[in-house]
Amino acid sequence: MTVTHSKRPLVVSFLQQPLKGKVNVPGDKSISHRALMLSALANGETKITGLLEGEDVMQTAQVMRALGAIIHQKAPGEWHVIGKGVGYLNEPDDVLNMGNSGTSARLLSGILSTHNIFSVMTGDCSLRKRPMRRVIEPLSQTGAQFITRNEGRLPMAIKGVEKANPVTYRLPVASAQVKSAILLAGLNANGMTIVEEPIATRDHTENMLNHFGVKVDISTLAEKGRKICLQGPTKLVAKDVNVPGDPSSAAFVMVAGLIISGSEILIENVGLNPLRTGIIEALKMMGANLQISNKRQEGGEITGDIIVKNTTLKGVDLPVSIVPSMIDEFPILSVAAAYAKGESRFRGLAELRVKESDRFNSIINMLRKNGVSVESHGDDMIIEGTFGNILGGGEVETHMDHRLAMSASILGLVAKKTITIDDIRFIRTSFPGYFELMNSLGCGFQI
Ligand code: S3P
Repeated sequence: MTVTHSKRPLVVSFLQQPLKGKVNVPGDKSISHRALMLSALANGETKITGLLEGEDVMQTAQVMRALGAIIHQKAPGEWHVIGKGVGYLNEPDDVLNMGNSGTSARLLSGILSTHNIFSVMTGDCSLRKRPMRRVIEPLSQTGAQFITRNEGRLPMAIKGVEKANPVTYRLPVASAQVKSAILLAGLNANGMTIVEEPIATRDHTENMLNHFGVKVDISTLAEKGRKICLQGPTKLVAKDVNVPGDPSSAAFVMVAGLIISGSEILIENVGLNPLRTGIIEALKMMGANLQISNKRQEGGEITGDIIVKNTTLKGVDLPVSIVPSMIDEFPILSVAAAYAKGESRFRGLAELRVKESDRFNSIINMLRKNGVSVESHGDDMIIEGTFGNILGGGEVETHMDHRLAMSASILGLVAKKTITIDDIRFIRTSFPGYFELMNSLGCGFQI
């Protein structure tokens, strides 16, 4: 990580002008991680375009290099990867550092568990607090051994196995990272890997495995669940990948455009995988004027453009079932809810407690410190909309969480008194060039 040790605060003032213009947000973080990992496991050379060059993804690139893949950047966003082939990763000769990235750590654990090598992984102090037992438990079925700090936290040592058993597992929590770790382990296991998820989570791993020539069987279960099967061992054939813009990054632009008076923005080439678009559904339920155009399919993923127009938003009661499809968007949705007219209720947010920060409490503190009433009942959050009257004046503690920092920056643009954000460094883990992009629309952030 190139993050410096001293915090970088930012003061944000009320914005007097509308946001106008056309932007392309950086590449999808989830798809970028998978593109690097799968191309490193493939036979042949893969060209990746639109890769997110944020720190989390660069961390994955670094780790895949340490495992023997040849990875280099040819032009901005264009990366070439020469893969090692499933089963042929090198034993790394040093500790693998995953930085701030839970996706890198969890997905890599799956890959490493079915390679006959020893590895140790660590991360920054945010990642070292996050739970790894959720992957260790299913991945142990392969025969791999895991040693961690107390309570399953990083650093973690993994002794992978050559003749790995396939995993059969029903996810106890909706997690695309856990599902993906198991499927990636299955690539080099002997037999059928089976994952059941009680509620469908983002399926970028399944889509990209298909793209690289791996047969993944997906069937639907009762309610909104899925069963995913993969026969191992298998090979991946290199094939170029085009990464669409990240809907989770677009969400900040969407909410800013919706709540800042007179705004009208076009966001081009955004990933619109239906398992990621809960935020669009939720905002529409709040009355948002969001239009999708130019919808198309590329490399197994749907993309399109989003036109955002300033709208008066109203409160919303969101069902638990929407949570997995917008798991990363609650910090910014909370800003929309705080600005809206009427009460909003977000249900079943337990998973927010184990993200880059304890987002459940980080969101509540961010809003309360700036004059918004928020209650919690168990894992539900109830936000009293201010109908455009956010007081502001508070300092937001971001706890090394990029999405908290970006959400607070949008909150500051619509609050009456200036808002101070304690640290904006981590924004570059997922959204390099965030302030420049927002300023091109007229945000006037003083960096
Ligand atoms: C991700 C899955 C989600 C999400 C994270 C990225 C992925 O995590 O919060 O930002 O790329 O698979 P969980 O699997 O823990 O829900």
